[in-house]
Amino acid sequence: MIRSAIAILAALAACSAFAVDITDAQRAAIEERIKPVGEVCLQGDSSCGGASAASAAAGPRSGEEVYNAACLACHTTGAAGAPMLGDAAAWGDRLAKGMDVLYDSGINGLAGTGMIAKGGCMDCSDEEVEAAVDYMIDNSK
Ligand code: HEC
Repeated sequence: MIRSAIAILAALAACSAFAVDITDAQRAAIEERIKPVGEVCLQGDSSCGGASAASAAAGPRSGEEVYNAACLACHTTGAAGAPMLGDAAAWGDRLAKGMDVLYDSGINGLAGTGMIAKGGCMDCSDEEVEAAVDYMIDNSK
């Protein structure tokens, strides 16, 4: 009984020793194998491989795509008094301010209202938000 317990302990010790006892070359090989998953890369970093190149090639999202992703929640329902897509009267008043003002509202939000900067889409570029404003206005005439 005692002897078999010792045998088990010895076996465990051998296993754990094996787990730790890899050579530097093996460690490097393992690190190389898990690299694509574990690696953190920043957008535009050329060392990141295909992913960032693919998203760069995809180009900016269309106004409709940005609207559906970031603006629809409020601007389809009129939540918090948002001018609704297709509501020509509501948009007509706002158009009188000029497009630059409306773009600015889309990008920076309207202080004190439910209109938050970029509709909360912080990974949207300014140009994408402007395209979404164009999309809403074009579809509200
Ligand atoms: C959380 C709700 C919400 C989201 C999301 C949202 N909006 Fe708004 N938006 C509002 C509200 C509320 C107003 C009306 C504010 C007011 O004048 O009282 C508004 C107004 C606007 C106006 C008119 C601004 C002006 O100067 O009259 C524009 C342009 C606009 N939104 C663009 C966008 C775009 C583009 C998106 C998506 C990228 C978006 N909004 C997402 C709530 C939202």
